[in-house]
Amino acid sequence: QPVGHAMTPPMGWSSWNAFRVDITEKKVMDSAQVIVDSGLAAAGYRSINIDDGWWLKRRTSDGRLLVRTGLFPSAHVGAGKDSSLRPFTDRIHAMGLKAGIYTDIGRNACSQAYDADSPNLPEGTHAEREVGLMGFMKQDVALFFGEWNFDYLKVDGCGLSSYGRDRPHVASGQYREYKPTIVEGSINQSDIEGTKKLYAGLKQALHEVRPRGDYTLSVCLWGTVNVRSWGQDYGSMWRTSRDIWKGFAQMVHNFDTVATREFYAGPGRWNDPDMLEIGNGDFGDSHLLEARTHMGLWAIMAAPLMIGTDLSKASPAVIDILKAPEVVAINQDPAGHQGVLAYADSDRQIVVKTLADGRKAVLLFNRTGAPAKFTLTAEHLKMDATTPIALRDAWARADAGSFTGKREFELQAREALLFTATGKHVLPKGYFVSERPG
Ligand code: GLA
Repeated sequence: QPVGHAMTPPMGWSSWNAFRVDITEKKVMDSAQVIVDSGLAAAGYRSINIDDGWWLKRRTSDGRLLVRTGLFPSAHVGAGKDSSLRPFTDRIHAMGLKAGIYTDIGRNACSQAYDADSPNLPEGTHAEREVGLMGFMKQDVALFFGEWNFDYLKVDGCGLSSYGRDRPHVASGQYREYKPTIVEGSINQSDIEGTKKLYAGLKQALHEVRPRGDYTLSVCLWGTVNVRSWGQDYGSMWRTSRDIWKGFAQMVHNFDTVATREFYAGPGRWNDPDMLEIGNGDFGDSHLLEARTHMGLWAIMAAPLMIGTDLSKASPAVIDILKAPEVVAINQDPAGHQGVLAYADSDRQIVVKTLADGRKAVLLFNRTGAPAKFTLTAEHLKMDATTPIALRDAWARADAGSFTGKREFELQAREALLFTATGKHVLPKGYFVSERPG
């Protein structure tokens, strides 16, 4: 039974790639408004996710997390010492959207959490405090999914490497003051079982608050501790790599960390090569070809589609790439098969994804900085070589002719073409995933 309800790859927007910790409620709401107004919500992008940076670096004496109300004004409730993100999720839900929040499985967060905007709090001497789930699993999960009514939780992997350690604290006024042991983002690589145990505790806590499983859980351990093999037991999705960045080479690297891992993915459980950089850097307005490549790769790999750009500044061209209906449909195909490498050399890949209706989606990817020739064969598609195969261009949303046996293409530097193919199967449909265990 998969965890949560992510029966197709999760879609939405996250603050991290766009804003890092320079997050504000206004920035989040501005992008959420564009999600609705531009038709991105109608295209399936529904979850509006707050990433790191939303919290203060300490808990109240009863362990409650505190919002940086200077940045999230609607969270200011009471006398400035307590806070709630319920007004935020209420607004998001009223827009017909879903809301997501961020925490860590260990003792502290990856980025700094701030005190500067909350003069009421005693001055801390260390950048990060124990705001992570460890030791507060039930309380925080009840806060996020109960009181605050979030729908989606990203659980990052920071604060884990010293989890065996005793970390005494002393009370300081109303707030806990912890000893200055700040845990770096590294994970104890030998402790697979210990890490899984923490996630088992999280799953139990989630079950208590959301027994119907109506949540999405994003596991973020950067491809470490063998998460690829067990992520599906605890999360709706799990990161396969280090953080993406708005450079082309990093995006390609992240793609590589999901390629050949198709057996782990399926409805309710998705390999996550990280959030989209479309609209940013190498995938911005002057690089729309690369933006389409990035989108095509994530689409065919059934990767979660989490927009990572400031949508209030995004051009119509960028929004059209994110929205492209036939590309999104390939990603969201109900069969939930991840694309499989049908051909690969160092410069070129052909990826094939079996769709629920028996068609195949096929992507041709030129990784290089120069034009490259491709030959797509019926065999790549596991289709009969003597029967015409009809192609449809998923970007142009137009028929792209048919071929028998094979067809040549020349791709521009960094280009990826994306088609759906209709032909006669030489093996039962589903061949590409028939060996998936379980
Ligand atoms: C890690 C994660 C990122 C982001 C940051 C926030 O690096 O992998 O996706 O959430 O933490 O600090």
